[in-house]
Amino acid sequence: MKILVTGGAGYIGSHTCIELLNENYDVVVLDNLSNSSEESLKRVKSITGKHLEFYKADLLDKEQVTAIFLNHKIDAVIHFAGLKAVGESVTIPLKYFHNNITGTLNLLEVMNDFNVKNIVFSSSATVYGDPSSLPIKENFPLSATNPYGRTKLMIEEILQDIYRSDKNWNIALLRYFNPVGAHESGKIGEDPFGIPNNLVPYISQVAVGVLPRVSVYGDDYDTPDGTGVRDYIHVVDLALGHIKTLPKLFTSPGVVIYNLGTGFGYSVLEMIKGFEAASDKKIPYKVCERRPGDIAACWADPVKAKEELFWEADKTLIDMCRDTWKWQKNNPNGYRES
Ligand code: NAD
Ligand code: UFG
Repeated sequence: MKILVTGGAGYIGSHTCIELLNENYDVVVLDNLSNSSEESLKRVKSITGKHLEFYKADLLDKEQVTAIFLNHKIDAVIHFAGLKAVGESVTIPLKYFHNNITGTLNLLEVMNDFNVKNIVFSSSATVYGDPSSLPIKENFPLSATNPYGRTKLMIEEILQDIYRSDKNWNIALLRYFNPVGAHESGKIGEDPFGIPNNLVPYISQVAVGVLPRVSVYGDDYDTPDGTGVRDYIHVVDLALGHIKTLPKLFTSPGVVIYNLGTGFGYSVLEMIKGFEAASDKKIPYKVCERRPGDIAACWADPVKAKEELFWEADKTLIDMCRDTWKWQKNNPNGYRES
């Protein structure tokens, strides 16, 4: 079985490539390296001792995408490629709509041309907006509060429409909660360009001394300690969720939708404490204003994925903090040499 992984050099993609290779899938990666480095894929090869094909290609260039389908008989696509910074999407929405929507349309057109109709799409818990109750189930109402989230919702709807028009498509919409952590080898992990937007990469850069302190965005939420609560999921558990989705996809289920989360929420302060324990470092922090657009709390009901995919996250908060720290400590500059 040959899987095309778009965005495979990125954070979640590179971890998924490892698990695909471990399961003996043939892997072809398409990535324009706009938010990643080819070094991640070199390390994937060294961790697994297996080969994968890499194409530095852009989904916005349909000819480049077509060339890959001409060279390889693809059985399914796992579609990670996209821009993902919420704040940036508010400032430059056109870039987000063009890259994420047009890129996906190009991919889907080429898949259709080559009669490849199996796709796993990286959606996000952001499509639930501010949920009216917790935990979040897949059938909760959907809404978007920023252009990034809107691209996820739009792509979900585009994929549903494609299935309505042609029942040969098999589509898995995976709604990720908050991916954190790194491969246990400490060789691959999240490598944000510039100052991180997300909590855990920020904490780890404080722990390693690159940044002075964490800004805690609000301690007056209606949560046990007043800080925001999220369902943090270890990236290796998340990657394994994709591995469990593929056999489901090959049973021709039509459109299927799953939350990939743990079902547990941790607060910002609990994450800071967990990281202090894992790194044996004091993490200075300062409570600041709430970040606009943030919700108080969010966690998944992961039962559907457990029942239908036979998947559940089993790594703990300690695993998440320890593995993030190992990656950060061994690679203080990420994949860059200095
Ligand atoms: P990432 O930025 O590390 O990976 C995305 C990859 O896509 C990058 O390697 C980038 O270079 C590539 N890419 C972007 N546009 C491209 C294009 N036009 N052509 C080819 N390659 C392109 O992000 P990630 O954290 O690994 O996220 C993967 C997917 O999961 C994204 O779609 C993201 O929106 C989604 N997601 C991420 C999170 C999260 O918190 N990390 C949460 C929910 C959903
Ligand atoms: N936070 C801080 N300080 C920081 C960064 C974040 O206190 O420096 C807080 C936030 O206020 C929030 C929590 O930490 O309460 C988590 O924030 P993140 O930015 O790490 O994650 P979000 O839940 O805001 O969003 C992430 C991704 C989205 C995705 C969503 C659901 O960035 O793309 O998870 O999957 F949609």
